[in-house]
Amino acid sequence: MQLTKYEEDMYNGEYGEGKAECMEILVSLGKIYNAEKMVPITSAQVSGVSYKTIGDAGLDFVVDLGKKADVELETMLNPAGVDIENWKELGFSEEFTKKQIDIIKGYESIGVMSTCTCTPYLIGNTPLLHEHVAWSESSAVCYVNSVIGAKSNREGGPSALLAAIVGRTPYYGNHITDNRKADMIFDVDYDFTTEAEIGALGYYVGQIVNDKNPYFRLNSNPGRNNLKTLGAALASSGAVSIYHVENVTPEAEFAKNHETFNETEVINIDSEIIKESLDGLSTTDKIPDLVCLGCPHASISEIQTVATLVKGKKLKKDLWICTSQAIKAISKQCGYLDIIEAAGGKIVSDTCMVVAPVEELDYEVIGVNSAKAANYVPNMCKLDVVYDTVENLIKLIS
Ligand code: F3S
Repeated sequence: MQLTKYEEDMYNGEYGEGKAECMEILVSLGKIYNAEKMVPITSAQVSGVSYKTIGDAGLDFVVDLGKKADVELETMLNPAGVDIENWKELGFSEEFTKKQIDIIKGYESIGVMSTCTCTPYLIGNTPLLHEHVAWSESSAVCYVNSVIGAKSNREGGPSALLAAIVGRTPYYGNHITDNRKADMIFDVDYDFTTEAEIGALGYYVGQIVNDKNPYFRLNSNPGRNNLKTLGAALASSGAVSIYHVENVTPEAEFAKNHETFNETEVINIDSEIIKESLDGLSTTDKIPDLVCLGCPHASISEIQTVATLVKGKKLKKDLWICTSQAIKAISKQCGYLDIIEAAGGKIVSDTCMVVAPVEELDYEVIGVNSAKAANYVPNMCKLDVVYDTVENLIKLIS
């Protein structure tokens, strides 16, 4: 692999043992993928934060790394296992929370921003078109590549962290412009009105394309929240890291402009497929005892919608809306937090229904509007899920 003089010096330890170790691992990784060089990055996003998913081995890794080197650019952390401020009120154990806080402190000690969110692009980590970044949470990777048009591979938590420490990543995969082109075309004849429907589309298509790049032709243009949901679903049932939507996403025109993009080989999707996919994502038809929204972490407009739906109501079951502390603060400023709390709901920050130890709480059925959450909750939390629209879920618990 071709290294610049600065990279070679880093590799040889001129900038400290920690950076040298990180370079060594990244160069080895690059060789596996035949990367010809390293490419400088402008930001990183690091998954592998929840104590539920990384355990004591992960905690040791972070603490150990903290002794070696700091990150050198904007690096945000994925959701953790608890709401840092309100863990007790939500019922999480002190023992789990203590370990979780140690992990977060370990990341903070090397300069990682403890934002604990999978939607860093909603709180200021918004790269420009064609910038190279190293992000690791799969839905965030899908969003940054597809909607923003920046370039990231689907990094593991450790490789994103190493990239943040040395400020570069191996040049392969989505960093190479040609690899971002579309592979399969999906003509979708369906008028989407809810995120649950668009999530059902993503869940279905993800299973077909696996790690290929889908290209969608839709009846109408989806908004940012829809695109966030679509990418999360594609990345959870498949391993999609970039998709294109005609007339919507920034690289759509470029993506179809190549000889293997065959306009005649189109997969048609109709309302029957969407309905089947929607129905298939529930594991029970019982009433949820917790409705949990915000996967990926909710935007301020999604919280505004929930506030409108619950205003003046007294909910009979629990409601969580998962998001970052930053979006929660805006919700408070706009009055949405008060409305939701008055109805008996909670805005839960720093964590989510998948990476929190929800299975230790007293719930049996979770209602979600996210195909990704519906896909993971039964396995990761051993709970049943009801998959439906926000409107219907709120109705079920009102
Ligand atoms: Fe984010 Fe948790 Fe969903 S990390 S994408 S809210 S599973």
